[in-house]
Amino acid sequence: MTTRFSIYHHTPEEEEYLNKVIKSVPGAAVVSSENLAHLPARPNSGVDVVLLEYQEDNPLLDRWIQKATSDPQNPPIFLLLREISTDYLWKALRLGVKECFPCPLSLDHLQEALDRLPTLAGTEEKSGAHMVSILGCKGGVGSSFVAANLAYLLAEESKGKVLLMDLDLEYGELKYFFDAQPRYTILDVVENLGNLDSLYLNSVLHACQENLQLLAAPSRIEEAEVLTPGLLEKILRFIKMESGYGWALMDVRHKIDEITLKTLELSELVILVTRPSVPALSNTKKILELFNLLGLEGANFAVLLNCWDKKGDLSVEEMEKFLGRKVVAAVANDPFHVGRSINEGKLLAQTAPRLPVCQDLRKVAATILGRDQGECRRSFWGWMTGQWGRR
Ligand SMILES: Nc1ncnc2c1ncn2[C@@H]1O[C@H](COP(=O)(O)OP(=O)(O)O)[C@@H](O)[C@H]1O
Ligand SMILES: [Mg+2]
Repeated sequence: MTTRFSIYHHTPEEEEYLNKVIKSVPGAAVVSSENLAHLPARPNSGVDVVLLEYQEDNPLLDRWIQKATSDPQNPPIFLLLREISTDYLWKALRLGVKECFPCPLSLDHLQEALDRLPTLAGTEEKSGAHMVSILGCKGGVGSSFVAANLAYLLAEESKGKVLLMDLDLEYGELKYFFDAQPRYTILDVVENLGNLDSLYLNSVLHACQENLQLLAAPSRIEEAEVLTPGLLEKILRFIKMESGYGWALMDVRHKIDEITLKTLELSELVILVTRPSVPALSNTKKILELFNLLGLEGANFAVLLNCWDKKGDLSVEEMEKFLGRKVVAAVANDPFHVGRSINEGKLLAQTAPRLPVCQDLRKVAATILGRDQGECRRSFWGWMTGQWGRR
């Protein structure tokens, strides 16, 4: 299979030089050649690698590179640097380029870089991880409890690996649900974003179960601000398309800010967790109205009623009438067992699967998975239209 290169140069001499180098690489060919003075809107599609002669002090070029690397559909970018310095390498890392080479370009180094590219073949067959967000309509409604246990049940029942991400960046509490002390956090992924691959990602995850890995939140409140919406988008797009995971569950903080909105925008399904209480339901209604206003309704939103007690003050019908939408799943109230499981750092779905609260969560997992594996979208649709049976 030929590796197709697109080269970007700023003088005819450099164009000739890059053409000559690529010609010497076995199985490689230049299929397009662009002048840096006339950058196209995006890298040419239909190529496997962009090789670009880097120009210092060209902010337009920097912006172009950053935009190009933020879209995983684009080919990876290799930079040819006139001089290699720590500053330039840091810059290249931040821009998201895949490889840097000093000039003159060593054929061996180029070949090694090509060997490192994971998916030159068969990329088009990948469908990517299913991205599911769990969003609490206010603090304390049980979104982390639902996220942790649902992730466990998905890992147990599905054939694909499950990645649980703690995106409650300031207070991330998921680690306590597993009694875990993760060595690394999402900040390590941010620091190595330029070279992110599945090997690196797996090295910073905490293994909770055989098929379940946790990406922990930063350990200190003030570190949360390091993760910008742009960086998060790159991480989530990588997880979706290149991580090899079947499912990614994101426990999102209940603050509706840019980080939360970015996560929801990139999610296939958003589970909005609420409780049968007037304040929680009022918040849920406000959030649904905001999503409507922001045009986020295109994403699949499912209202999940946690801590449901049949004998409580409010009936499901009353709550649905108030919210103006269906409650698509209800999870039983069990303060004693749930509280104890969290304090002990043992997942309830694992230690007491027969409890009604766990049976309810198992139904939710089964619905997300779809009766027939791989028909995820169709099952979401059934869920959205309320075909899923409630207790
Ligand atoms: N189904 C449930 N039944 C009873 N208590 C629950 C249930 N789900 C969660 N809780 C309790 O709610 C509290 C908050 O849970 P948590 O998952 O940390 O909420 P959030 O992440 O939304 O802030 C915990 O003390 C937990 O014991
Ligand atoms: Mg939480």
